[in-house]
Amino acid sequence: MKLVLLGAPGAGKGTQAKKLIEKFTIPQISTGDLLRAAVAAESELGQEAKSFMDKGELVPDSVVLGMVEERLGQDDCAQGYILDGFPRNTAQAEALDAMLAELGMELDSALSVEVPLEDLMKRLTGRRTCRDCGQMYNIYFNAPAEEGKCDKCGGALFQRDDDREETIRKRLEVYNEQTAPLIDYYSGKGILKSVEGTGDIEGIFANVCATLGL
Ligand code: AP5
Ligand code: MG
Ligand code: ZN
Repeated sequence: MKLVLLGAPGAGKGTQAKKLIEKFTIPQISTGDLLRAAVAAESELGQEAKSFMDKGELVPDSVVLGMVEERLGQDDCAQGYILDGFPRNTAQAEALDAMLAELGMELDSALSVEVPLEDLMKRLTGRRTCRDCGQMYNIYFNAPAEEGKCDKCGGALFQRDDDREETIRKRLEVYNEQTAPLIDYYSGKGILKSVEGTGDIEGIFANVCATLGL
């Protein structure tokens, strides 16, 4: 499986990617997670990225492309990969195609996870993430058994810095302007698939697998 997951902020890309990697043991490459790790490590790259992320804007392509290229070159990607949150604009999509052609790892599919705009704000303001294992929760839709604590590993839950209403509005705007056109981009290449991202997470996962022929 060589897959790009497309979808608005909060559509459930990360949630579905985590289920796919559990079932198919291939890596999830989330540029958002890689950037947040760089921010936490206080690296130079992280400090540059943080100023864009806090505003809800895209981090410059040069930063993200280098990160993805390095990650795709690692051994565990040879059997397949799931790109989550990348590419985010046409320039990144074109650069990705060139990179994958060079590596002989061309995409099988781009899967768009479709969720109505009015659902996204609540999903994002309600999101909580485990600091230790990365499991995602939502205080409105899938709350942990004990407030602030991960069901899986007992780790502390945190709220992302960019999950504030103002920043979310900007992220949604950036998505509509820069990322949504990729639906046409992949449709033009004949590899676009789409799935409804509303309803329960397990049901969506079953549809994701069926849509991808897994
Ligand atoms: P990134 O981390 O990619 O954030 P995003 O695209 O805004 O997407 P999210 O992670 O917010 O949403 P998701 O679709 O993964 O949803 P999730 O599964 O968590 O990017 C962050 C920032 O980094 C960007 O703004 C940019 O600055 C930078 N960046 C990243 N990549 C970049 C790139 N390629 N180029 C340039 N800059 C880049 O679910 C959300 C919530 O909903 C959770 O609480 C979850 O539990 C809940 N939920 C999930 N499914 C359901 C359901 N079916 N019903 C109810 N609730 C649900
Ligand atoms: Mg995500
Ligand atoms: Zn955990």
